[in-house]
Amino acid sequence: MDDIAIYRERARNVLMVHCGACHYPQPIGSNPKVLQIYNLAEPDWASRLSDKQLQNLVSRLKDRSKMTAAELKEVVPKNMPVPQRPKKDEVEALEIYVTQELLNRLH
Ligand code: HEC
Repeated sequence: MDDIAIYRERARNVLMVHCGACHYPQPIGSNPKVLQIYNLAEPDWASRLSDKQLQNLVSRLKDRSKMTAAELKEVVPKNMPVPQRPKKDEVEALEIYVTQELLNRLH
């Protein structure tokens, strides 16, 4: 695996925990439009995201770090486990990946 693939995989692990309820296919049914934006079941899951959307990954995850338990419950579909607030190292792993991916796209 090259470096970018390692960073992307770490970011995927973070997003699986916090965003997988909608951005990973679920047995009880998923919204195809949401999976079309990005689907964490795909190895190259970020390929359809624009540069702006890549940056939005970080801001949407960061928003979660300030949420209360009640607010977190609101952003997860009903009957799905409610994740904890993202930890600092999880946000950092996503930031590192997005920075590397954006640099990678310049080449
Ligand atoms: C409740 C289901 C749900 C969850 C959970 C969810 N998303 Fe989404 N996501 C959506 C929907 C619906 C859209 C399309 C509408 C919109 O942009 O909000 C979307 C769109 C996006 C986009 C594209 C926005 C753009 O600028 O076009 C990004 C990036 C994104 N989500 C990231 C995340 C991240 C990061 C998380 C976890 C922190 C997350 N999503 C969790 C449903 C969800």
